[in-house]
Parts: sequence; C-alpha cells; structure tokens
Amino acid sequence: MKTSFGMTRRDFVRLGAGAAVVGAAVKSTLLEPAGLAAQAPPDARKIRFAIVGTGIRGCNLLSSARNVPTGVCVGAADLYSTRRRAGIEAFGAEFPTSGDYRTLLDRKDVDAVLVATSDHHHRRVTLDAVAAGKDVYCEKPMSHSIEDGFAMVGAVQANKRIFQAGSQRVSSVLYAKAREIFASGRLGDVHEIDAQWNRNTPGGAWVYPIPPDASPETIDWKGFLVDAPDRPFDPKRFFRWRCFRDYGSGLGGDLFVHLLSGIGVVTGMNTPANRAYSTGGIYHYKDGREFPDLLETVFDFPSENGGVQVHLHCNQANDDGDEGITFYGSTGTMVMTGKTVTFTPQDVRPKFESYGWGGMTEAQRHKGMEDWKAAHPEPLAALGDAESFTLPQGYDDTAVHIANFFNAVVTRKHVVEDEVFGNNAAIGCHMANQSYFHRGVASWDAAAKTIKV
Ligand SMILES: NC(=O)c1ccc[n+]([C@@H]2O[C@H](COP(=O)([O-])OP(=O)(O)OC[C@H]3O[C@@H](n4cnc5c(N)ncnc54)[C@H](O)[C@@H]3O)[C@@H](O)[C@H]2O)c1
Repeated sequence: MKTSFGMTRRDFVRLGAGAAVVGAAVKSTLLEPAGLAAQAPPDARKIRFAIVGTGIRGCNLLSSARNVPTGVCVGAADLYSTRRRAGIEAFGAEFPTSGDYRTLLDRKDVDAVLVATSDHHHRRVTLDAVAAGKDVYCEKPMSHSIEDGFAMVGAVQANKRIFQAGSQRVSSVLYAKAREIFASGRLGDVHEIDAQWNRNTPGGAWVYPIPPDASPETIDWKGFLVDAPDRPFDPKRFFRWRCFRDYGSGLGGDLFVHLLSGIGVVTGMNTPANRAYSTGGIYHYKDGREFPDLLETVFDFPSENGGVQVHLHCNQANDDGDEGITFYGSTGTMVMTGKTVTFTPQDVRPKFESYGWGGMTEAQRHKGMEDWKAAHPEPLAALGDAESFTLPQGYDDTAVHIANFFNAVVTRKHVVEDEVFGNNAAIGCHMANQSYFHRGVASWDAAAKTIKV
C-alpha cells in the first residue's frame, strides 16, 4: 500500500514515522529509601536540639524529628503560649519551653537550633544562634530580604557553623533519582524547566484559623513585630503573616522556594538567576492581603550549557497542577510530581521528514527519499522505554532532611542545602516578588549583591 507521498508501509516504519509506538512502554519502580539511622545512639550522643517557633511547621518538624533516632528535643520557644504546649505534644515528650528564645541559646547542653519562625525572624534568630555556637536548621525561605540572606551567610561562615535551609525535598530519594537521571545526560541539553504548585483551599491560600484564646495576653505581639512597623494587636497578621510583606514572602517564599531548591539540587545550578519577570494579581482572595494569589515568573538562569529558562507559576484558586517540575531536554523529558519522577525519551532518531518535500515534484520527492535511504542504510535502533520511579507510601522527606542535618552536626561535613544554596534559592523568591511589585524585569547584580528593577 502506498501512502500519500508514495511511500510503502515498510518505508514508513523504516524511515522513522512509526517510531512513536515503539517506545510507548513505561517501566515502573518503587524507590527504596535508606533508613534514617541504623541504630539510635545512646542518649548522651544524640544531637540535643532546641526549636524556635512551634507553630504549624515547627510542630511538623517535631513530629518528624521524633522518628529520627539521632536527635532529641531539649527545649522550645514560641511567642504564643498555647503553641509551647503544642510543640511538646508534637514531639511526644516533655521539654522546657520559653517565650524568649535567647534562654535556649544560653544553654551549654544545646547543640543545634531549628528555626521555624515567620520569615522576618530568620535572620535575627540565626545570627544569635550561630554567635552562641549552635548549628542551625532554618526553615525556608532562608531570608526575608537580600540583606538578611547575606548577613546570615556571613555569620554562619564567620562562626564556622553547620547551616541547613529547610527545603526538605533536596534530601528526598525522589530528587536523588531525578538528579541521577539528569546527570546521566539522557535528557540531552536542557534549556527549559517549567514548574507549578497550585492549591484551591482557604488553608492553601494561608487563610489559617485564628484560635479563640489568641490575645495580647497569650501572644507576645511586640516580640512578633520586632523591626516591622508598629501597629495594634492583629491576630490576622500573626496567624496569616504569609499574606503580608512585613513578615512573609508570599508565594515566592512559600512555594517557589521549594521548586527552585528542587531544580537547583537536580541540575546542580547554585546561583541566582540573571533576570526574572513576574506577572500575577490578587484575583480571588480580596481579604486585605498584599501578596498575589496567582504568580507567574520567568527566570533566566546562567548555566554551563549556555542558559536555562525556568518558568514558575502558582495559583491559589485552582488545584489542577499540584506540585510538579518538568525538565525539557533535547533527547528526553523528565516530569516530577510530589511522589514520582518519570523520564520519557524523545524520538530523535534520524527520520525522513516528508513534510518539507511537500512543495516539490514527485520526482524530487522520490529522489530525496532514495538519497535519504542510501545515507541511512542501518535499521532504526530501538527507542528506550519510559521509566517511572515512585516514593513508597508514608515517606517523610522532612525526617530525612533533619537526619542529614544531625549527621552533619556530628561529622562537620558539608550539607547540600547550605547557607549559600539556601540564600540563592531565597534570592529567586525576592527577585520574583520585586518584579511583581515594581512591574518590571528584576536583574541580579552579583557584584553589588542587589536586585535592580
Ligand atoms: N519546609 C516546609 O515545607 C515548610 C512548610 C511550612 C512552613 N515553612 C516555613 O516555616 C516557617 C514557619 O511557618 P509556620 O507555618 O509554622 O508559621 P506559624 O505562624 O504557624 O508559626 C510560626 C511560629 O513562630 C513563632 N515565632 C516567631 N518569632 C519568634 C521568636 N522570635 N521567638 C519565638 N517564637 C517565634 C510564632 O509565635 C509562631 O507560633 C516559615 O518560614 C515558613 O515559610 C516551611
């Protein structure tokens, strides 16, 4: 049988046009993570850590840390008295608590501090902790401003402390697999990465509950404000601080930072972008917030292969497109979701491309095809299968990230998400936000360590 271009069916397959069906299979593998630690050391050798901030994330950290046998929580601080109790419940064991974190730093028996405060306290607590000789695990985004980030890098390095930023995905076995696939070169040249994280619930848009006991008697409001502009007690600002620029970093600091950290650990890119351009708006949550509920940013990253365009977008009023990152390479595509990574080879085997012969005579087309066949006498090599890797149920990357930090505290060996990596990821968030608020392209000036818009 002849096709419209005079090819036989055999020609059609041999020339590559039927290749898509050849590589359709997907090989699926369940990932097998290593244990958190083979055996718990005796109590005396466990890392003794304190935590500053036992709100939503602080309690998550404590409930993950209770499964990490190499550390034990020996104290906590929070500005809201009820949360001091919540921290103890999350860890499942008693420890002393305080409203003033400096009492924890004075203690000689505290090796390390986990910082899980709102973003605008990260710098202050980290600087005090490293000055007191403590190693620090600080939640993402590492900084609330460019100046904060560089002050933190300087203080950590001057005090020779271990510092780990808290984008836990960098420790995930899923990201290790993605990194392995990326490093294998199977993706070819990657110049485009697209990532999103959408949510469609009030909680996903930071409309967190305000507990009935919230009052100036239970919350140290002045302690919360610190350097932020003074204002009367406002529980909305205390519990929903992510919406406001004085305390949080919006979608940039909440979700972009995870995506940027994930992209950084997979690709090995550990530098701020050259430029970022954002658009977005407050479309759905007209509740007095300052940060957009829909944010899209295109970053132009420098890289060894000449540059990578990274497109991030987060929408708080639609959840089609939960957390995910796609790496578009010249020979393959890799798609990450929260639980899987899938590599699909692209069919770039040489093929006779009939489309371009469409405007030519039958004799020209025939000659073109015969020439092509003569130049490609070998049959097509098989296209590899797509491969997919899945996390086991219940896998807790936060516990693994904490375990990695405790190990580093003991060994003094470098952690992946150190102060420089954490700072670079946070700079990406600040560039996205500055572009959005100034309605212009945000350029990174590496020499001056500033963003120019
Ligand atoms: N890694 C992740 O997946 C992840 C998830 C959620 C939040 N986070 C990060 O964790 C941090 C905390 O977020 P959250 O949702 O827990 O906020 P939250 O408001 O629920 O809790 C923050 C707590 O910090 C306390 N606090 C603030 N400053 C303090 C200080 N100087 N001393 C003592 N306590 C202080 C507050 O009283 C509050 O209870 C943020 O930086 C956030 O971006 C990370």
